[in-house]
Amino acid sequence: MSDFTLTTSTQEPDLGTAMKVVYQWNYGSEIEELRRLYVKAAEAQWVATRDIDWDRPVDLKKFATTPVGAGAVPIERNSYWQSLPEETRLELTRRTAAFRLSNFLHGEQGALMVAAQLVNAVPHTDAKFYAATQTMDEARHVEVFARYLEKIDGLRPIAAPLKQILDATLETGDWLKKLVGMQIVVEGLALYSFREMRVLTEEPLLKDILTYVARDESRHHAYGVQYVERCVPELSAAARAELEDFALEAAQTVVDNRNQQGLFMALLESWQEAGIDVAELFASMQRERDDLARDLPKVRRLGPVQGFVIPTLRRCGLLSERVATRFHEFLRGNLGSTIVGDDVHEFLRRVPDLPEDTAAWVMGELN
Ligand SMILES: [Fe+2]
Ligand SMILES: [Fe+2]
Repeated sequence: MSDFTLTTSTQEPDLGTAMKVVYQWNYGSEIEELRRLYVKAAEAQWVATRDIDWDRPVDLKKFATTPVGAGAVPIERNSYWQSLPEETRLELTRRTAAFRLSNFLHGEQGALMVAAQLVNAVPHTDAKFYAATQTMDEARHVEVFARYLEKIDGLRPIAAPLKQILDATLETGDWLKKLVGMQIVVEGLALYSFREMRVLTEEPLLKDILTYVARDESRHHAYGVQYVERCVPELSAAARAELEDFALEAAQTVVDNRNQQGLFMALLESWQEAGIDVAELFASMQRERDDLARDLPKVRRLGPVQGFVIPTLRRCGLLSERVATRFHEFLRGNLGSTIVGDDVHEFLRRVPDLPEDTAAWVMGELN
């Protein structure tokens, strides 16, 4: 007897979406840069089982070199952490990897479904073609992260804020909102995190996976930028403002302190299950805070929203002073004015330009 069934115990209840499907009878190219990107994507296809050496076991000792709290005080350098037996430290490393990579994986599933929706919903043939190649890319990304997680026995549920953004992007009937939610906000965050993890990690299999994935993601980001920047000048002021607000809300979900703390608490819980004394860990971090902070680089990292998503929105014409003021207020509340500046003008001056070559930037070849 086969164990195949029409519904499975692991699937979610259906999510109702308002997606509209658009036929396009002009098959000629209207947006040359998107047609070029489509050809580039077709040429750059890779095959996970063929191109990646999966026989290597995951090297948790090397994984442990990836900082746990990128940007914050490094947890793994305090004396309580250092006093733990190596076996426990490796288990914490495994749990941390599982936690982060599971969210990469679930995000990729969201990207897979949104990309497929874009094939239906975008009105231009070149944009439909490109979304088709992206759909294939995202399937591969789901495949490789799932396979890596299987190796470390680490599949965990999706984090609530990520699910919220994916749901909003899948549910909206407005294809431009889908583009902004997925190609600009989610892809921007992913690109930033993949780059950071790829540069920092010394785990060979993960580094390989991230190299392939990040190259694809830099094209996905380019699609968003090139398409949205074409569309925005055609919008009414009201439609543009609505699009700006959609991006703002998605980005807010990500940087919100309460959400960040919620994620950190979930990670701590998983460490606690591995037998560590969280209270003692905190006490030790508190005692050694100044010593640990002294060795940190003095330049605070901007983070994915200020460092990448906002520059992308500006490039696409979706950063009016109105929405910039709301971004500034929100980020100042969460990060403080030393990072975002005292007023919106200073904030805007600190927003960096997008890297000229995103593919090179993502590989760590540019700063
Ligand atoms: Fe992806
Ligand atoms: Fe992507």
